[in-house]
Amino acid sequence: MTRAASGQPSSGTLPEQQVRAMFDRIASVYDLMNSVMTAGMHQRWRERAADLARLEPGGRALDVATGTGDLALALKRRVGPAGEVVGSDFSERMLELARAKSREVRFEWGNALELPYEDDSFDAATVGFGARNFADLSRGLAEMARVVRPGGRVVVLEITTPQRPPLSWFFGLWFDRVVPLLGRAAGDPEAYSYLPSSVRRFPGPRELAAELAVVGLAEVRYVITAGGIIAIHSGTVPVA
Ligand SMILES: C[S@@+](CC[C@H](N)C(=O)[O-])C[C@H]1O[C@@H](n2cnc3c(N)ncnc32)[C@H](O)[C@@H]1O
Repeated sequence: MTRAASGQPSSGTLPEQQVRAMFDRIASVYDLMNSVMTAGMHQRWRERAADLARLEPGGRALDVATGTGDLALALKRRVGPAGEVVGSDFSERMLELARAKSREVRFEWGNALELPYEDDSFDAATVGFGARNFADLSRGLAEMARVVRPGGRVVVLEITTPQRPPLSWFFGLWFDRVVPLLGRAAGDPEAYSYLPSSVRRFPGPRELAAELAVVGLAEVRYVITAGGIIAIHSGTVPVA
């Protein structure tokens, strides 16, 4: 039985209010910590995820769990001035920082597990480093698929655990030892201990691809990049 079928929340993360409180707390150091932890590579991964959304100029896209908005901004560069991008999140502090970056994207409050949008209202929906935090992964993925029109795309960018040495050794050392120390230096050891444990709990690439298929997406594919630490999954909403 899959975890989704068992009726348990499929990502086994913290309760929603704790996740929201944690991101409200770390919002002011979030971008800097990303740059330090990834040696500045995180923006490249978002660009690749945005490409996989296959948006056209004038298109309409949703970035779920948008945080400080960088993936939404990458989507906006693809749809151009005639297009529309909505970035949605349930942490007001993260949204404030996103709004400070650009007024060209509509950043608004929304819970990924209950998206406040009509069916079929976007050409693509993305989530970057957010799905791992969903209290119910299957429900979050199903919501993304619901709001995308037939033929449109759902893209999930996440950290994944490399399986082979030497990267698996390095990843263990970096994530389990260095990242919590960086978190301590940034004033929030708890949040940056949660990060490695949330990555370990999250489904591996094959399992996540299966979850995307379960919510009804077709042509599900994934690419593993950055030496095995980043997985970008995509799928298409089937045309009836
Ligand atoms: C690690 S950050 C990722 C932010 C951004 N997408 C990025 O690429 O950096 C995770 C974000 O997911 C948001 N989040 C987690 N669960 C959520 C939910 N159920 N609904 C809306 N936002 C959620 C958090 O508030 C946080 O801003």
